[in-house]
Amino acid sequence: MIRFEVFTLFPDIFLPYLESGILHRARKKGLVAINLHNIRDWTTDRHHVTDDLPYGGGGGMVMKPEPIFHAIESVLGDPHGCPVILLTPQGRKFDQAVAADLAGVPFDEPVTPEHQIGLLCGRYEGIDERVRQHLVSDEISIGDYVLSGGELAALVLIDAVTRLIPGALGDPDGASKDSHASGLLEHPHYTRPPEFRGWSVPEILLSGDHARIARWRREQSLLRTWLRRPDLLHGAHLSDEDHRYLNNLGDATEE
Ligand code: 6GU
Repeated sequence: MIRFEVFTLFPDIFLPYLESGILHRARKKGLVAINLHNIRDWTTDRHHVTDDLPYGGGGGMVMKPEPIFHAIESVLGDPHGCPVILLTPQGRKFDQAVAADLAGVPFDEPVTPEHQIGLLCGRYEGIDERVRQHLVSDEISIGDYVLSGGELAALVLIDAVTRLIPGALGDPDGASKDSHASGLLEHPHYTRPPEFRGWSVPEILLSGDHARIARWRREQSLLRTWLRRPDLLHGAHLSDEDHRYLNNLGDATEE
């Protein structure tokens, strides 16, 4: 069981996504829990203010530290024994390896603080620097573009981590087949009908020859990765046969 404690000004954003598909099922099975905490509930002033003007001037608003410290210390304890991740474009880049790292808790042991992960969603132009310095333990970004808040990024992280928990997917080894799990992009998929508008399914997939199908899929994965994301080939686990196939691709295009 992984327990995500999410701190946000917009908890409602999460609901429809958490109530659909894989995440819904993983929650019902007790593999993952996602608890939403509205930072505004921890304000103590009459108008429930969560942001203020930046010291030094300039545009935009800054998230105040008090309600954030109060929320996280109340829910996770003080000191808290679990990671607290700030979602911000300034964080380290999220990828499948970071997801695997966050999912890598022994999942059938009793819930300990290590099974809990705090996620803090930034909003406005920024967050008081003292939150970064004295409250969060990590900062993660989901890519080099700017979103209006960390909520979508938190959902991305929760989804990618949950898929890696054993039992979360229908297919028992589903997650190991995903694009990026092997370090390669996925091969093409086809389903019925065998011919649609004159476009046929590759003959080999109908052949019933499982060894040849496995080799074809592997080569399609390699080809796609070589064409679209050659940067991924450096980190992938490749057999001698894979290397021979890729070398042939290289030779073929140089002619
Ligand atoms: Cl984590 N937050 C925001 N606001 N923008 C982002 C991001 C996070 N990751 C990429 N862009």
